[in-house]
Amino acid sequence: KTPLRLGLAGLGTVGMGVVKIIQEKADLLALRAGRPVVISAVAARSKGKDRGYDLSGYGWEDDPVKLAQREDVDIFVELMGGSDGPAKAATEAALALGKDVVTANKALLAHHGQALAELAESNDAVLRFEAAVAGGIPVMKALTEGLAGNGITRVIGVMNGTCNYILTRMEATGQGYNALFDECARLGYLEADPQLDVGGIDAGHKLSLLASVAFGTQVSFGAVELEGIERISNDDIAHAADMGYKIKLLGVTQMSARGLEQRMTPCLVPQTSPLGQLDGGTNMVVLEGDEVGQIVLRGAGAGMGPTASAVMSDIMDIARGTRLTTFGQPAASLIKATPAVAATP
Ligand code: NAP
Ligand code: HSE
Repeated sequence: KTPLRLGLAGLGTVGMGVVKIIQEKADLLALRAGRPVVISAVAARSKGKDRGYDLSGYGWEDDPVKLAQREDVDIFVELMGGSDGPAKAATEAALALGKDVVTANKALLAHHGQALAELAESNDAVLRFEAAVAGGIPVMKALTEGLAGNGITRVIGVMNGTCNYILTRMEATGQGYNALFDECARLGYLEADPQLDVGGIDAGHKLSLLASVAFGTQVSFGAVELEGIERISNDDIAHAADMGYKIKLLGVTQMSARGLEQRMTPCLVPQTSPLGQLDGGTNMVVLEGDEVGQIVLRGAGAGMGPTASAVMSDIMDIARGTRLTTFGQPAASLIKATPAVAATP
């Protein structure tokens, strides 16, 4: 069988999670995909770094754009991060050549998702990003496949593992959030710029992608009403607990008569509710469909294994011949330019 050949750009937390799965589960993947899934070549900043796995059998490129353009690469897997720069240039290079792209990069897609989806469509390429939203939870698959017969009425969720970890540890230990950064870094949760996490921006990126896929609208990150967790003090958490609540960074998106509402802000949730009991790096996404009612998805929202698991889901779909982009149907060029409004006047 013809192998599916990957070009993997980024060998950090997520990239090495993908290498681990491909090296340790080669037979299982080949069985499930109906063909071998192999890595042809990789790119990262530092070639000499010991990453704990043998990479000597793979080609190496210093320049991710060259990796994306290699003849022995069928799918370009972008796991570097950054909303512009090499991630954008290499993704564009791959799509322009009609190569499929799998990425975990919500910042890139929140800013350029519409243009990239159109580039993919015009070159008959597929753009998938399951890992970009809620880590290991297959939320894109649920929206585009499992709930394909539903009009989505609302999506609610906790979508940043770092913030959820920090808020639950602040409550448990009385530490301030700065003291908890090292633990988040050790767990592989943090963005390269942790301000994206605690500022609510990373979760806002994810919400804008969810909203676009759920409601068939253009990605409109600029219209997300955003507030992070930096102003939440240990006193706030203690007062909330006295009243029977927890503070969560909660995303809500729904379509109203005013347009698309998107809000990512700290909220009080009852301690005994499923959201209130969400600890550590766990995420929860509640999908509401007009036929199915409410679906609750819960799982690890960040870290090596869970995120690599989601990346592999996209790779395996492409290996099996699925040609849908995560933006799904309608095609990117048909996505409605619905005006997006901040949720609260
Ligand atoms: P990371 O650990 O910082 O790894 C980034 C990798 O990209 C490193 O291997 C780095 O090379 C490489 N890189 C950076 N700039 C590069 C450039 N200009 N040229 C070539 N290689 C470059 O990041 P991560 O946590 O794996 O995250 C990767 C992506 O996944 C990001 O978009 C992030 O938002 C997303 N994501 C992460 C998680 C998570 O839990 N960590 C979850 C969901 C989505 P060196 O190793 O040589 O420095
Ligand atoms: N920094 C992100 C988080 C990684 O903490 O949720 C997963 O997207």
